[in-house]
Amino acid sequence: MIITGKYPHLRLRRNRNSDWSRRLVRENSLSVNDLILPIFLVDGVNKKKSIKTMPDIYRYSINRLSEIVDKAVDNKIPMLALFPYTPKNLKNDLGSESLNEDNLVCKAIQYIKKKYKNSIGIMCDVALDPYTSHGHDGLLSKGKILNDETVRILVKQSLLQAQMGCDVISPSDMMDGRIGEIRKSLDKNNFKDVKILSYAVKYASSFYGPFRDAVGSKKLLKGDKKTYQMDYSNSQEAIREVALDIKEGADMVMVKPGMPYLDVIKIVKDNFKIPVLAYQVSGEYSLICNGIKKGIINENSIIEILTSFKRAGCNAVVTYFANKIAKNLK
Ligand code: PBG
Repeated sequence: MIITGKYPHLRLRRNRNSDWSRRLVRENSLSVNDLILPIFLVDGVNKKKSIKTMPDIYRYSINRLSEIVDKAVDNKIPMLALFPYTPKNLKNDLGSESLNEDNLVCKAIQYIKKKYKNSIGIMCDVALDPYTSHGHDGLLSKGKILNDETVRILVKQSLLQAQMGCDVISPSDMMDGRIGEIRKSLDKNNFKDVKILSYAVKYASSFYGPFRDAVGSKKLLKGDKKTYQMDYSNSQEAIREVALDIKEGADMVMVKPGMPYLDVIKIVKDNFKIPVLAYQVSGEYSLICNGIKKGIINENSIIEILTSFKRAGCNAVVTYFANKIAKNLK
């Protein structure tokens, strides 16, 4: 680091003294191109159901999806992430609803692709937790989550999503080896252009609570996800996870949650020249909303926090604020 000159000749405040000057020397800025909007789906007709723990976020039935997708397309948000709320009677031990070609996610992909063509990308979670009666991302046997058996189902789930028109397959389950197996099967079935965004670095976190409410898995979840999601004490391990997933064929990688893991985002970006995304998860979203509602912080905090992801090295952020802030960013 070379510092030429010193005070009083050198005054770092000079570059900050007007708006144009601050804009001129700005190192990072957030744009709508950096945003991915998650959408929750619910079965039925004419439904727009609020979620207790997530202010201003709703579950949409297919026939009301355009309310939110229209906005995202108008805002030029590049991609949506779809998540289903599965009613209890469709959940079972094997999560078999995940492979039903008439399931909510399949219907939503087809609807959006038909109506909006390629004006917006769609990413879908690959994991079993919205569909299992025990709320885990994989198959549960004698208190253990089975890796290879789960991967076999995830491969089928990925293929089904690709057949429906999903652009970006996003395994969020943290099973070992799933990226390679999914890539192999996509290629074999001629889905060579379908991308894989791996949730490569996903921590066992307390910040997912409101999401689990939203997909209806919270009350069902038996135990925790510590045997497959990462220990939040570790960051070196993140490098191994990412290295493996890149080797297996990931096109992009995700770090999740977001704000408590900015150091991890930075490490990943410094070590690999691959698009790095972060997920500002439901607990982060609701905390910020509550802070704003109570007057503890103001709305500017949203952009400030999201810009910190850019500073850390993110190419894009999955955020429930995407539609809300897109207008201010244009
Ligand atoms: C499930 C999944 C989770 C989230 C995205 N995909 C929850 C979990 O792992 O329990 C969390 C997203 C959020 O909290 O906003 N595979």
